[in-house]
This record gives sequence, structure tokens and C-alpha cells, in this order.
Amino acid sequence: MYKTCNKRKVFKFFFLLLFSFIIAHCWFSANTYVENRLMKTAADTDIKNQSTNYKLYIIVLVYDRYWSLIRLLDSVNSALFYSDRVKLQVWIDRSANGSYCPITYQTAKNFTFRFGDYEVKVHPRHVGLFGQWLTTWVPEPESKDIAVILEDDLTVSKYFYKYIKLVHEKYDNVSEINGYSLQGGMKRLSVGKRKRLTAPHTSNVFLYPSMGPWGFSPKNRNWRKFLDWFNSPEGHEKTQPFIPEHVAWFWYNSFRKKGKADTMWTIWHRYYAWKNNEYTMFCNFRGFAGLANNYMEPGLHVGGSRKKSNPLLTHWDSQYEHLPVPEEVPRLDLKGNLIS
Ligand SMILES: *[C@@H]1O[C@H](CO)[C@@H](O)[C@H](O)[C@H]1NC(C)=O
Ligand SMILES: *[C@@H]1O[C@H](CO)[C@@H](O)[C@H](O)[C@H]1NC(C)=O
Ligand SMILES: *[C@@H]1O[C@H](CO)[C@@H](O)[C@H](O)[C@H]1NC(C)=O
Ligand SMILES: *[C@@H]1O[C@H](CO)[C@@H](O)[C@H](O)[C@H]1NC(C)=O
Repeated sequence: MYKTCNKRKVFKFFFLLLFSFIIAHCWFSANTYVENRLMKTAADTDIKNQSTNYKLYIIVLVYDRYWSLIRLLDSVNSALFYSDRVKLQVWIDRSANGSYCPITYQTAKNFTFRFGDYEVKVHPRHVGLFGQWLTTWVPEPESKDIAVILEDDLTVSKYFYKYIKLVHEKYDNVSEINGYSLQGGMKRLSVGKRKRLTAPHTSNVFLYPSMGPWGFSPKNRNWRKFLDWFNSPEGHEKTQPFIPEHVAWFWYNSFRKKGKADTMWTIWHRYYAWKNNEYTMFCNFRGFAGLANNYMEPGLHVGGSRKKSNPLLTHWDSQYEHLPVPEEVPRLDLKGNLIS
């Protein structure tokens, strides 16, 4: 009897011990679970926030030329991105009556970007080339993100991002440089014969007072100042964008006579650059090879010669990485004469 009782007590004791142990275990696991949950939520948020920080934004502008859109997107898919975080955005404009081209939309939707995030955006209303260029990239002035804006009738070189990264890193702190044009063989913009710009081949880059729109990677600070000026009360609504000796002024006037002045956004950038003594950087490779070229499709500004503007750079030489210090970059005037 005594023995049995003792046994029972021992049994009860162990049972209680086990019970407390289980309760304690549950308590701690529950706590750990809650903690993990909290950490996981924080981590998720972190990842989410990071995913808005891309190194490169590729902004593609299109209206209805789906055949050229896919050609451009395919060339982007063949480029090198070195595992950097990249976001590709296709912006589709609407026509004046609010419709947009369904084949262009489907073409964009069907595309798979191999190297990063991809997004197809349709403007909520008709914005034209002005809206396409001037509302799709509005960076903080000090942002380190790089954007490149590409109209649909271009294709890019496999090395376009390598070049863009290189020049941003080397020249972004030079305040007079407002961005980097990717086309090769840019033609001079002074009145008179449209000759191609040439610069000494001792340098793979040169500076010119007007931008070229066939592949443009703006420098954020200058771009933002330009946009702020453009939209300000003293901006485009109060200004005649007259640039002495500049052929764009004549184009602008002929567009204006045809009621199409609102398609020529570049004159405003060129005017602002002229007013503020800014330069755009161009590449200077042999044979006028560029990081982008234009297929000269029939469109708003081009009759459609179906002859590509310039060849693409198809080979990268490590020598290209030796870029001159800012003071030694050849600088041309509007006529294309070397001034320093
Ligand atoms: C992530 O972004 C959101 C919204 O901008 C912000 O509220 C949150 O604090 C950010 N989280 C972290 C971890 O930075
Ligand atoms: C809207 O405009 C587009 C392009 O100009 C045209 O093709 C289409 O037929 C128009 N739609 C309507 C409903 O008017
Ligand atoms: C998009 O993909 C769908 C499904 O594969 C196909 O039926 C359609 O023809 C494609 N459209 C275009 C414009 O590529
Ligand atoms: C820009 O940066 C380079 C090196 O990073 C430096 O040598 C140069 O002085 C800087 N220039 C300006 C204007 O800050």
C-alpha cells in the first residue's frame, strides 16, 4: 500500500513535470513563432522596398509600331546587364480619341524580359511625344538610378548598358554635361549642310551643345532642372525656343505652320541646354558605330528612307574603358568645329 502510494506520487510528480515542460515548450515556441513572423514581415518589406531600387530603368516609348517595338525589345534581350537590377518599362500612348493599338499592346504583353522586371504601361490619355518624353522619367535630382529612354524605332547594341554605366560613373559629377546620347554619326544641327559630327579618335567620346534623341540617358540633376523649368510659369508657355544658327528652330517653325509643333519636344531641351551652356556627350567609335541606331521608319518626323542611321557597336575593346578626364574630352561647337 505504502509502496503503491509512493509510486503514484512519483508518477504524479513526473506527470506534472512533463505537463509543465510541454506548456513551457508551447509558450516559447509560440513566442518564437510570433518573433519569426515579425522578422519575416520586416524582411518581406525590405525586399519589397529594395525592388523599387533599380540600377537601370529602360524606358521604351511606343504608339502603334508593334513591328519596331518587338525588334527593339529583342535587341534589349540580347544586351549584357551584368546581374544588375534592371527594370524595363514599355509606355504605350493613346490616340487623340483615347484608343490604343491592341496589337502593340499584345506584342508588349507577350514579350518576356530575360534580365529583370518588366512592365507594360498604357498612358491614361493621349500624351504625344512630349508626354512620352517628359513624364516617364522624373527622378529625384540626386538619385543614383540610371534611365535610358528609347523610342520604338531604335535597336540597341549588346554593349549599350556597359557604355552607359561607364560614362555615368566617369562624368556624372560634371555639371555642364546634361546626358549621354547613344546614337553614332550624329549630324550637326547648324543651318546648312547636314554633315556628320567628327572628333579626334584619340577619345571615344565628345561633347556637343545639343542632344541627340536616338537613345538618350539623361543625367538626373540636369534632366530634373530642365523638366522643372519646362513646366514652370516661365517655361515653354512663355518662351520662343529660338536658338541662333540652329536648324531645329526652322524645323520647329515649319511644324508650327502645319500645327504639329507639339510633336517636337527636342527643341525645348536644346533651347534649355543652349541657355544654360550645357553639353551632351556622344560616343566616338570608328565607322560611326553607336550604342543605338534608328531604323528610320515612317513616323511623325521621318519620311521613311528605310536606311539605318548608323551601325551598332558589335565588339567591345577594353581600350574603350579608358575615357579622358573631363577637361580633355573633345568639345565641338554647333557647326561641329573642334573648340577644345
Ligand atoms: C518600405 O517602404 C514603405 C513604404 O514606402 C515604408 O513605409 C517602410 O518603412 C519601408 N520599410 C523599410 C524596411 O524600409
Ligand atoms: C480612334 O483613333 C484611331 C487612330 O487615329 C482610329 O484608328 C480609330 O478608328 C479611332 N476610333 C474611334 C472610335 O473613332
Ligand atoms: C500573344 O500571345 C498569344 C498567346 O500565345 C497569341 O495568341 C497572340 O497571337 C500573341 N499576339 C501577338 C500580337 O504577338
Ligand atoms: C568628379 O569626380 C572625379 C573622380 O571621381 C574627381 O577627380 C573630380 O574632381 C570630380 N569633379 C567634380 C567637378 O566634382
